[in-house]
Amino acid sequence: MWLDIFNPHVMGYTHKCNTLPGKLYRPCLSHCYPRVEGAKLLRPVEEIVVQSMDGTDSELFPYLPYILQDIWEIGTLPEIVLRLIEKHTANHSNLSVLDLGCGKGAVSITVARELKCRCHGIDAVEEFIAEARNKARKFEVAEQCVFECGDIRVKIHVITGYDIIILGSIGPVLGDYHSTLTQLSNCLNKDGLIILDDGYIDDASEYRHPLYETRSALLNTISDAGMIVVDESILEREAIAESDEHIFSCIRQRCQELMHTHPEQKSLFADYIKKQEEENDVLENKIICSTIVLSRCT
Ligand SMILES: C[S@@+](CC[C@H](N)C(=O)[O-])C[C@H]1O[C@@H](n2cnc3c(N)ncnc32)[C@H](O)[C@@H]1O
Repeated sequence: MWLDIFNPHVMGYTHKCNTLPGKLYRPCLSHCYPRVEGAKLLRPVEEIVVQSMDGTDSELFPYLPYILQDIWEIGTLPEIVLRLIEKHTANHSNLSVLDLGCGKGAVSITVARELKCRCHGIDAVEEFIAEARNKARKFEVAEQCVFECGDIRVKIHVITGYDIIILGSIGPVLGDYHSTLTQLSNCLNKDGLIILDDGYIDDASEYRHPLYETRSALLNTISDAGMIVVDESILEREAIAESDEHIFSCIRQRCQELMHTHPEQKSLFADYIKKQEEENDVLENKIICSTIVLSRCT
């Protein structure tokens, strides 16, 4: 059994990991259960991470670092977040930024480089965090950036004092929008901002998807959670298609390699390629991809 020394609410068991050759034993985050009274049992982190990367089968989890090895910007476009933070804050170098589900740190590192502020990125994939730390050294912002491996569903209960919280393409990891925004309230300073990069369905559209709300439903939820939208940047369809095309060709190539080296898992990788194609169609044609800046209602 192990205990997270940074978070006494968390403990877990080291278990045998069958899917990772060469890494037989490792602490498994899915065995982290908050010890707080009345806490809900969390879904396994592998399942949540794979879902946040548009997959459906948690068996994919150990292969994600291989599949995504050619891509640094694995979700949100860093420039958009940078521009919004720059526009809506002052004293940039004093800002303290929390990047939840930071991936390989592309957003945090861009923001830290340009604004000279401090960034704290948390992600559940060890290899992504290792790459984020390497990139921070390469871009000479290692002193300003802390990248930590952990489950954000647990970590958010023990961290406070951030001016900006970035939720960059992580989907409903922390629950629905209402639950996400209320849980984050304790981490955010009084005048702090949340930057939410996600998608919604245009009110005029009849399209429905289990992961996306209509714009008006989203705005109602934001208001019910005691927050308001102070700005929004909508991504052009061409920009989405361009980014999707690059990411998809890298993912397809690496999945095809895995289909050769792990023929017994062929359908796992073929299904992931198919899921990516479907998700790209949703992003490019069915929903509106937008980055929203939220603040507390005064
Ligand atoms: C689509 S990626 C976006 C990464 C990054 N925000 C960006 O925009 O470049 C989603 C990220 O969320 C992370 N993630 C999902 N669930 C998580 C959890 N419970 N705890 C920590 N990280 C999580 C995944 O590991 C993945 O890196």
